[in-house]
Amino acid sequence: MLNPYRKHKIMPWYFGALVVLCLNFSMSMQASFAEGIAPAAPRGQLLFNTYCGACHQPTGIGVPSVFPPLVGNVTDWLSREKGRDYLIRVVLGGIEGAMTVKGVNYAGAMPSWASLDDESIASILNYVSIAWGNQPSQPEKFEFFKAQEIHPIREEKPTPQSTYALRQRLLAVDLKVQAVTNPVVIKLRPVSFTTQQVQEGREVYDHNCKDCHGSNLDNGEFGGAPLKGSYFKQHWEKGSVANLSAYMKNKMPPDRPGVFSDKVYADLVAFLLQSNGYEAGSVALPSQLSAQQGLSLEQD
Ligand code: HEC
Ligand code: HEC
Repeated sequence: MLNPYRKHKIMPWYFGALVVLCLNFSMSMQASFAEGIAPAAPRGQLLFNTYCGACHQPTGIGVPSVFPPLVGNVTDWLSREKGRDYLIRVVLGGIEGAMTVKGVNYAGAMPSWASLDDESIASILNYVSIAWGNQPSQPEKFEFFKAQEIHPIREEKPTPQSTYALRQRLLAVDLKVQAVTNPVVIKLRPVSFTTQQVQEGREVYDHNCKDCHGSNLDNGEFGGAPLKGSYFKQHWEKGSVANLSAYMKNKMPPDRPGVFSDKVYADLVAFLLQSNGYEAGSVALPSQLSAQQGLSLEQD
């Protein structure tokens, strides 16, 4: 099989894309640095667009106050001590907790991508290290992520909480970052949804989610996380509804994430919200993630 990772197996049809990539990279980077990139980039890009792009956007600029940017940001992490280790943990275990990135506040939850193999994770990290003009501050010292270095960290089973705690520790030693005093707070509007959406969501839930998450949303038999109460609140209440939608679209149901239309995911969100004490109204929850971004889950 064709494995784009191996230079010597790259077929001619593939060459056009590679040449374009090499040209792009060599303009912004030292030649020696660019040589190693070419084989990694196409696969990393494909994986990034599939597993990360819905939230961080294919351009890496994220969505202000919902999904933090990776442009510039990854470079910052790579230039910090332990930053590399941190990035691996974020992808393996996800991360959750309030953060300020480039002066904007985020309070979301990023899902774990431990389901991807070591090689894929290394590929994605290599892509985000060099994509969109990202460039390690000392290219000559930068080493590509390798599958072998992902594995031992995977064995430690990082969680969203442990990785967040690490983030706090790493930043605490970095006075430059502590100096962010007035982060931008983007004003979101309260979320809205209709009874009809709740009903349709309930039906989908009963057929596709109930076995794991339970008839009461917190009594699942097959290990699904509680979908209501303080657990739900803690994860989702501080941010935009787009966080919850994007999480479900990317991860649920676990054996075929993204299988439903945007409308159905919005119905599921409506059902979960109603189950958590949010009240239905006359304005429907829009299906598109982009339209959900300005809607807050914060309750007064
Ligand atoms: C469902 C949406 C979603 C997906 C998919 C997603 N992320 Fe995230 N990501 C987030 C959110 C939200 C945060 C911030 C979490 C918080 O506020 O605690 C984040 C944070 C991060 C951070 C940490 C930024 C920092 O400054 O500490 C990195 C790095 C990152 N994501 C990379 C990735 C990569 C690589 C992928 C794909 C493998 C990915 N993300 C997939 C939503 C997502
Ligand atoms: C095979 C079992 C299974 C099925 C089916 C399933 N889930 Fe999950 N779900 C899980 C597990 C396990 C987690 C915890 C994942 C994690 O922490 O990485 C989870 C997490 C979640 C979360 C995040 C909870 C939180 O606050 O962290 C939501 C929301 C969710 N599922 C919704 C759904 C919806 C909606 C469906 C149906 C379309 C569904 N799930 C189907 C097992 C399942």
